Amino acid sequence: QTKSRFVVAVDGPSGSGKSSTSRGVAERRGYAYLDTGAMYRAAAWLVLQSDLDSSEQELVSKLIEQADLGIGTDPAGPRFTVNGTDVTEAIREPVISASVSAVATNLAVRELLIARQREIIAAADPGIVVEGRDITTVVAPDAQVRVLLVADPSARVARRKNELGGVVGDDDVRDQVIRRDRDDSTVAQFHDAAPGVTVVDSTELTLDEVVDRICELIDQVHAGS
Ligand code: DC
Repeated sequence: QTKSRFVVAVDGPSGSGKSSTSRGVAERRGYAYLDTGAMYRAAAWLVLQSDLDSSEQELVSKLIEQADLGIGTDPAGPRFTVNGTDVTEAIREPVISASVSAVATNLAVRELLIARQREIIAAADPGIVVEGRDITTVVAPDAQVRVLLVADPSARVARRKNELGGVVGDDDVRDQVIRRDRDDSTVAQFHDAAPGVTVVDSTELTLDEVVDRICELIDQVHAGS
């Protein structure tokens, strides 16, 4: 990592406001933006298109290794392709959300995607905001700013419900959020901040306030260097 490249690592559970926040910070600073969750989703999309079952771990990782994954890094609207097919919208479908953990827990797949994430980070100029579950700890532990974004479960349920257009019952959304937490916690331990990681609680903050807070952390590093 060169001195001039600035890396902001943001981890957190789903519904913590991670994506909107990370995009907001990247847009304000003119940085690139990497949504690592979208990479796992694109991989899960490919597995669903194939004849493979996600339990066939070696074959699944071969399939993903041979695939051409196009990973957009424009914070205004990153697009994703798999072997030339645009999957930007498709990877947000519930069928992907329900199947992605099975792919994200495949360690060979993680190794491939983490290597790709590090390449994208290394190529970023002048900086990049990277969001996920293992960015502050595994992918970019040397990032200049490392944040764990958290929010109370009630706030996360409300946000998720909003994303779904409010047509789903609270209990259903709460079940989904709890299930996602449980599935994801088998993937990476991200509920406690690692040493040197700043916890930002978004429960009582607006999106702009969370973006402000992270930009302050960036400014502090610039002021100290
Ligand atoms: O953030 P998201 O909901 O788009 O993430 C999709 C899935 O990928 C979720 O099951 C967690 C997993 N993931 C991961 O294992 N590591 C990351 N760095 C990012 C996401």
